[in-house]
Amino acid sequence: MNDLHGRRIVLGITGGVAAYKAAELARLLIKAGAVVDVVMTAAGAQFVGVATFQALTGRPVWQALWDERMANGMAHIDLTRGADALVVAPATADFIAKLAQGRADDLLSTLCLARDCPLLVAPAMNRQMWQNPATQRNVAQIGADGIAVLGPASGEQACGEVGEGRMLEAQEIAYDLIASLQPKILMGRRAILTAGPTFEPLDPVRGLTNSSSGKMGYALARACAEAGAEVTLVSGPVSLMTPRGVRRVDVQTALQMRETVKSVLAGRRPNDIFIAVAAVADFRPKSATEHKIKKGAAALTLELEANPDILAEIASLPDAPFCVGFAAESRDLATYAEGKRVAKKLDLVVGNLVQDGLGGDDNSVTLFDTEGSHALPPGDKLTIARAIVRHITNLLEKNCASN
Ligand code: C5P
Repeated sequence: MNDLHGRRIVLGITGGVAAYKAAELARLLIKAGAVVDVVMTAAGAQFVGVATFQALTGRPVWQALWDERMANGMAHIDLTRGADALVVAPATADFIAKLAQGRADDLLSTLCLARDCPLLVAPAMNRQMWQNPATQRNVAQIGADGIAVLGPASGEQACGEVGEGRMLEAQEIAYDLIASLQPKILMGRRAILTAGPTFEPLDPVRGLTNSSSGKMGYALARACAEAGAEVTLVSGPVSLMTPRGVRRVDVQTALQMRETVKSVLAGRRPNDIFIAVAAVADFRPKSATEHKIKKGAAALTLELEANPDILAEIASLPDAPFCVGFAAESRDLATYAEGKRVAKKLDLVVGNLVQDGLGGDDNSVTLFDTEGSHALPPGDKLTIARAIVRHITNLLEKNCASN
């Protein structure tokens, strides 16, 4: 994915053992399309080698305030001019203390002070250093100064102790950085999503389900969170990582999914958005047997009953949230998708042909709303999810303007 295409990121490395993870972070940022300039403190360079970062980024690594390679002697200013973000990972307790005080006694701290781009720091330290009131005071201060603090995580530490203070994994830092660069167009809103299949038990080991990877719903949950929404993802059984910053509630059956969605929406807020991506089983066995159904009979008849249509129920509530549905069809997409939008009283339907998107990482969708249909360029599911979020925002703005 090219999430950082055309972006330049300055990666600062201070002196902590987690500096080894910064090599992986540099690699991930470059893989995402960024140009990466690495700046190391003297202590950072004790933990990892300059050559590693030069080789990974294909660019010089910066260490000194008075570096002669910078023609005007302004490395402390030039490096962040035009940069999209400055990320310090790992950030030691000492470096955070310096940031809190606005000190600038080496290249990296001076860059932080003289920057004109967002600054994100990923603390990494022993748990007692992290818990120390002085560190907590400094972290609160840099947060109040508009610096984003990523993590830390909890777990086993290099010193052998267990607790809070571990640096986030490189993947998580890259994820948070990419999220921080997305426009906050859903700030102040709440998004409730359903995703994945439902599983309707027949007996303790078998059940009826749909083929659904959950990838599109999870990508949308991520896109909503990146856009600043407070996100609850009600998920059927899938094997996907919960997007960072998303509250996930796991369910199995359609009835559980309905109850969970209703309870989240019970404290209804005027700005809520409901996005139903789940492939809900239309029918469930009338009753599940307590014990495993044994083979032997020549035939087996199952009695099924209809599941509720969660989306249609929510959309027909008085004062319903903004409702988005999905229509996965194998043919006549426009007819079925538009029919669904009208029948279920939806604000937007995202239609796709199952042969284009099922299970894979890419998709090709068309949006249906009161003004007609809009085909989005085919792409990976996260890019499409972000485009859907932008479309939702446009519709919400139009709704606001017309009310
Ligand atoms: O009518 P159909 O099942 O094709 O509609 C699909 C849309 O309705 C999807 O957004 C899906 O999440 C939602 N849906 C639901 N509850 C159901 C069936 C579908 O929320 N029981």
